[in-house]
Amino acid sequence: MEALPQPTSSYEADPADVHRVLLLYSGGLDTSVMLKWIQDRYEAEVVALTVNLGQPGEDFEVVRGKALALGAVDCHVVDAREEFAREYVWPAIKANAVYGLGYPLFTALGRPLIAAKAVEYARRSGCDTIAHGCTGKGNDQVRIEATVATLAPELKVVAPVRSWQMGREEEIAYAREHGIPVKGGTEVAPYSIDDNLWGRSSEGRWIEDLDHAPDDDVFQLVTRPEEAPDEPETVSVAFERGVPVALNGERLEPVELLERAAEIGARHGVGIVDHIEDRIVGLKVRDIYEVPAAAILLTAHQELEKLVGTIHQNQLKPTLDQRWGYLVYAGLWWEPLREDLDAYMDAANAQVTGTIGLKLYKGSVRAVTRESPNAVYDAQLATFSDSGGLFSQAASPGFIELFSLQSRMAWWVRHGAGVPAPADQPDGT
Ligand code: ARG
Repeated sequence: MEALPQPTSSYEADPADVHRVLLLYSGGLDTSVMLKWIQDRYEAEVVALTVNLGQPGEDFEVVRGKALALGAVDCHVVDAREEFAREYVWPAIKANAVYGLGYPLFTALGRPLIAAKAVEYARRSGCDTIAHGCTGKGNDQVRIEATVATLAPELKVVAPVRSWQMGREEEIAYAREHGIPVKGGTEVAPYSIDDNLWGRSSEGRWIEDLDHAPDDDVFQLVTRPEEAPDEPETVSVAFERGVPVALNGERLEPVELLERAAEIGARHGVGIVDHIEDRIVGLKVRDIYEVPAAAILLTAHQELEKLVGTIHQNQLKPTLDQRWGYLVYAGLWWEPLREDLDAYMDAANAQVTGTIGLKLYKGSVRAVTRESPNAVYDAQLATFSDSGGLFSQAASPGFIELFSLQSRMAWWVRHGAGVPAPADQPDGT
């Protein structure tokens, strides 16, 4: 038996000081093995915590029962869906949050909340240490440990999967030996899944072969576009101050709105992303994402924002959005810059009220109608027919002359043409 790892950072637990552990428990193989292993190896008590962020199809009572059967002294199941929607997904929508051109950050948004709950329940149940099931290769360890170290410097962390050197086979053997039920067949390793109200990711197996196009069985949330209905469907999304409040005219609470958007999008095959991603820890990986709610709500939000913003606001915001997305991806949820950016997001979104109609059809989502009391748009001005004197077309040439002046001068200089003599200017004398 290899020795328990000694800490290399200030927040990792010294094995001698581990007596009561709050384990972030999912009910899966890693955290089930961990539940036993921590009791055995640290001779510590384990309090399990499972956080419900809207993982579809999860039976949390079964998870709870399993934790207790494996010797947890207590198991808390926390329904954090509402908080997740309001405090994490809504700000992400205001920031059009997408990392690396395709990932709407559902896991990255969930981890700081899960870790904050771990801190809360660890304190409440007198634990000295928090344990989680992250590997040493992913972003989630960064997000969870940065959160714990920020919010609770008095608590320590252990991450057994990072050090125990058991592969899947060894874990299954350990599970069998210790009476831990192993779900499903054990021959084929399953995809590594993470999901919540905002999306679902699959990793592992053939996904690691870049020349392997997606096998159909990876799509468990979104209908494959080729099997989606032959008739398009239009969905309208209403926003107030940057957050979605209604679908198809029906006002909905945040969790239900997210679930309904996901359901409609999934039916039409929208939100499939086959993504190459630069992880914070240096690795480049491939993920398959299914993000039907995000495909609908982010598209609608962006469209509405564009309608109510000025050219200057619309040019700046994407750079700040990208910054926000990167901080959250990188696990720096508690970094003050994120709050600074949120202040800007709130200000910009104060105008984002209105309704966008989207057409969904076999994997595509496209804005088709737009309406807002704050639109910086006037059909009278934009029309090709008479604009009623509000826009002076006669003023345009003067604008073009001055607006293009520096660019023209530079072009002449660089092409050896020289700046034309004043006599050549229209008003030259
Ligand atoms: N690549 C995404 C991220 O870093 C998804 C990770 C999924 N996490 C997981 N434990 N399977 O946020």
